[in-house]
Amino acid sequence: MNNYIEKFEKMRIAGSLAARTLDMLSENIKEGVSTNYIDKLGYEFIRDNGGYSAPLYYRGFTKSLCTSLNHVICHGIPSDRILQDGDAVNVDVTAVVDEYYGDTSRMYCIGKTSVKLNNLINATYEAMMRAIKILKPGIKLGDLGYEIQSYVEEKGFSVVRDFCGHGIGNKFHEPPNILHYGNKNSGMELKPGMTFTIEPMINAGVYNVKILNDGWTAVTKDKSLSAQFEHTLGINENGYEIFTESAKGYTKPPYL
Ligand code: MF3
Ligand code: CO
Ligand code: CO
Repeated sequence: MNNYIEKFEKMRIAGSLAARTLDMLSENIKEGVSTNYIDKLGYEFIRDNGGYSAPLYYRGFTKSLCTSLNHVICHGIPSDRILQDGDAVNVDVTAVVDEYYGDTSRMYCIGKTSVKLNNLINATYEAMMRAIKILKPGIKLGDLGYEIQSYVEEKGFSVVRDFCGHGIGNKFHEPPNILHYGNKNSGMELKPGMTFTIEPMINAGVYNVKILNDGWTAVTKDKSLSAQFEHTLGINENGYEIFTESAKGYTKPPYL
């Protein structure tokens, strides 16, 4: 992949649709709505804007996006669960446009969330951004894992090991795995043209995971709270580009 200009152009379009979907949801995620309603809005918005939702029918997944509440780490399945005061939900959207993928997630807070939950959400966002800001050709994957792990553990939180970021392009998931923990100067070296996600899942308690009987929903083993943010990124000659940035400046809650 010598000339990645055209690939980046497509990643920008898919990434922007995924980000605009999360922007649109900011106005609709509130107390009293079900996670199925969020799924419906996301499905329709992506369809009406020239794309489709990658999760729908992906490996047997039956919804168009993931809604992961409170102690759910990731891959929560939208349902008739009604959002309540004090909940926090991660919504993870993956849009496909012209065969390229944009994958991004944000946390949304319902009503008044606890100080502990707010601290976890802020630390998770900050950890992702610290890893993103060091991206450039020549650094190694372990360097970004180290940024996340060292920051998060200093705050007394833990980094989930069982799920990771991933290469992404004209496939949803492809090599390399992007671990959110690691050691400086270890692992694969970053090169211009690489495209991948960073999507740290951070737990208030232990990092261990349990998968529910639906085969998808990953929860914290100790029922502690968990938070996640995700961006799709590309490495260029000088540094990086975020393909899934919010055009409205909706980075972390509160958004409105
Ligand atoms: N969007 C998730 C990721 O960040 C993957 C979800 S797979 C699904 O990689 F099937 F659960 F949607
Ligand atoms: Co992803
Ligand atoms: Co995702």
